[in-house]
Amino acid sequence: MADLPLPGLSPRPRTGGLTRLFSSRRFQSWAARMPVLRRVARAEGAALFDLVAGFVNAQVLMALIELRVLHLLQDQPRTAPDLAARCAVPADRMQVLLQAGAGLSLLRRHRDGRFSLARRGAALLGVPGLEGMIRHHRALYADLADPARFFASGQDTELSRFWPYVFGASGAVDPDVTATYSRLMTDSQVLVAEDTLRMVDLRGVRHLMDVGGGTGAFLAAVRDTYPLLPQTLFDLPVVVAGAAPAARLTIHPGSFRDDPLPQGADAISLIRVLYDHDDATVAALLARIHAVLPPGGRLIISEPMSGGVRPDRATDVYFAVYTLAMRTGKTRSATEICSLLRDAGFADLQVKPGFRPFVTSVVTARKSDG
Ligand SMILES: C[S@@+](CC[C@H](N)C(=O)[O-])C[C@H]1O[C@@H](n2cnc3c(N)ncnc32)[C@H](O)[C@@H]1O
Repeated sequence: MADLPLPGLSPRPRTGGLTRLFSSRRFQSWAARMPVLRRVARAEGAALFDLVAGFVNAQVLMALIELRVLHLLQDQPRTAPDLAARCAVPADRMQVLLQAGAGLSLLRRHRDGRFSLARRGAALLGVPGLEGMIRHHRALYADLADPARFFASGQDTELSRFWPYVFGASGAVDPDVTATYSRLMTDSQVLVAEDTLRMVDLRGVRHLMDVGGGTGAFLAAVRDTYPLLPQTLFDLPVVVAGAAPAARLTIHPGSFRDDPLPQGADAISLIRVLYDHDDATVAALLARIHAVLPPGGRLIISEPMSGGVRPDRATDVYFAVYTLAMRTGKTRSATEICSLLRDAGFADLQVKPGFRPFVTSVVTARKSDG
C-alpha cells in the first residue's frame, strides 16, 4: 500500500509513515472510495468500532445473564412485554436490551417481534463455567473503571480480595471466599482438563500429584481416562476441605509456600497456578517441585499463556489484564515459563500450544535422570 500514488500524499512514506498515513483523515476517505480498499477500510472501521463499543457489549451480555433473559428464552420465544414483566424491567427498556442482544447475535428477532435464543446465546449457556465467569466480571469491571489509574498504579483491587491467597494468606482465609473461587474454578475446569488431556499423555505415570488442584476437578477428569492411576491433591487446607474423597486419591492439605510438598509422585501438575503468582513465588515453587520429583519425573504446566512475539487477543488482553488486577499475577509466555523451568533445574522442555489458547496451553518438563 506504501507504493500507491495517493492524492496529495507522499507515495513512499518513510518508516512510521505508513502508520501516519492510516491516521490521516484524507487517506481514510480516499480509501473508503477505492473499490479494492473499500472492503478493507470498512472491515477496519467495523473492527475499530467494536473495540470502542466493547465495554457496552460486555455490559449488555452481563444484563442478559443477570436478568436471566437467556435462560427465559431457552425453551420458547417470548415478547418484550412478557420478558419485561418476568424480569421487572420497564417494557420499553427491555425492548432496547433485547434488540441489543440480537445485535450481538446472542438473540434472534422474529418477524412477529418475539425474541428467541440465537445459536451463540444457546452456546454460551452450554459452556461449562462461562456464565459464572461473566457474573464474576463485575469485580474486574470495577477494577478497570479508571483504566489509566489501573495501569499507572498497583491500586487495591477487588480481584486481589477475591483471590486472598495471592499475598500468601493460607490458614486464615475466609471459607466462604474460598468456596466462591473454588466453585468458579471447578465449573471452568471442564474445558481446561479436556484440552490438557488431549495434549498430555499420562500413560506410564505411576502417581500424579496436582499442586494447587483446588477441590480436585482436574484429578476427577484424569480419573475418567486413567481410573487406576494413584493421585494426590495438594491445596490450601480451607480449599481441600471441599474436595470429595475418591478411590486412589490422597488429599494433602498444605501451602506450597510454607509446607513441604509430599514425596512419592513421579508426575506433578500445575493447572492455572503459575499465572496467579510473581516470579519469585513461581521460582520457589518450581524448585520445591524439582526437589520432590524422582529422577526422570515429569512436571505438567497448563494455563493460558501470553506475551509471545505474536500477541493474542484473548491471552494478551483478557488474561494478562485479569492477572494484573490480581496484583501478584502475571500471564507468561511459554518461553518465559521454560526459562523459569530451566532455572529450577528442569530439562526436556516441551511446549504444546493450545487448540484454544484462551482455554489453555501446556509446557512439560522432566527432572534429569543424572
Ligand atoms: C486459579 S486456582 C486453580 C485451581 C485448579 N488448579 C484449576 O485449574 O481449577 C489456583 C489454586 O491454587 C491454590 N493455591 C494458591 N496458593 C496456594 C498455596 N500457597 N498452596 C497451595 N495451593 C495454593 C488456590 O487455593 C487455588 O485452588
